[in-house]
Amino acid sequence: MGILEKEVGTFLDKFLTPIEKIWQPSDYLPDPSSDQFKYDLEEIQTFAREMPYDLFVTLIGDCITEEALPSYESWLMGVDGMDQEKKEIGWASWVRAWTGEENRHGDLLSKYLYLCGRVNMREMEVTTQYLINDGFDLGTSMDPYRNFVYTSFQETATNISHRRVGTLAKQSGNTKLAKMCAVIAADEARHAKAYKHFVAKILEIDPSEMILAFEDMMRKKIVMPAHMMRQSGQKAGELWGHFSDAAQRCMVYTGQDYINIMKDLLDEWKIEHVKGLNEKAEKAQEYLMKLPSRLQKITDRISTPDLQFHFNWVKS
Ligand SMILES: [Fe+2]
Ligand SMILES: [Fe+2]
Repeated sequence: MGILEKEVGTFLDKFLTPIEKIWQPSDYLPDPSSDQFKYDLEEIQTFAREMPYDLFVTLIGDCITEEALPSYESWLMGVDGMDQEKKEIGWASWVRAWTGEENRHGDLLSKYLYLCGRVNMREMEVTTQYLINDGFDLGTSMDPYRNFVYTSFQETATNISHRRVGTLAKQSGNTKLAKMCAVIAADEARHAKAYKHFVAKILEIDPSEMILAFEDMMRKKIVMPAHMMRQSGQKAGELWGHFSDAAQRCMVYTGQDYINIMKDLLDEWKIEHVKGLNEKAEKAQEYLMKLPSRLQKITDRISTPDLQFHFNWVKS
């Protein structure tokens, strides 16, 4: 962290977009003061009514996940080596700038969902508040290496998820929503690239510890940031499985995606060819290289339940 900190300025330029140039939610939302507004609204509401249930709840769950951003920022700010009071550009600057970009995601989606007329906004907001309240357990501790593995994985997963919702929306003719999801997905891809780059850099400096951190995270399994999700009347985490099943059924995010991300990270970081490892790290390297095929066998055996659960976020 200390060595890389000098490069944070470069990372900000390379992976994040200046505020004046980046898109804002209002670029993609209808303008209530325009004459066109009522037609835009009608279009948004018609498409929302026609959206398949699983896809619709997946979109809401994705929005809630984005809306729990305060948890993610405070968690990253607590990572070892973070100095929030530092005057010069450092890791805290990265976290703040990243948060600023991420904040637009939940903003855009929640405004869209409000306009679409099919969401029980109060229930959605209750889930969001619960999620921030309940927090999460990612298994990273305060270790930056583990955190960067997690964020590399997670930004890739959110890229996939938003991209797929966008593609499915586009196929149904819902170009407004497709556009929103596409711009969010593009941000996630840029963020994924950044975190993967940080890990690649650490692999050059401290290969054994970096590989051990990667192995540890994969042994624990990457949990999604919203794994504590609940709706009113439930206990923390009780809703998560239903949300994840819905996402699987509409093919927005599946067990196969988990394996593909894992493979992507192994390739990206050229794990197979990392040299100069100590004995323990060599074993970890071996474990990591075998993991995708082991996971494949397990995933092939799992089927997603057909059962549709009633989410109280959706207006009946
Ligand atoms: Fe996001
Ligand atoms: Fe993200």
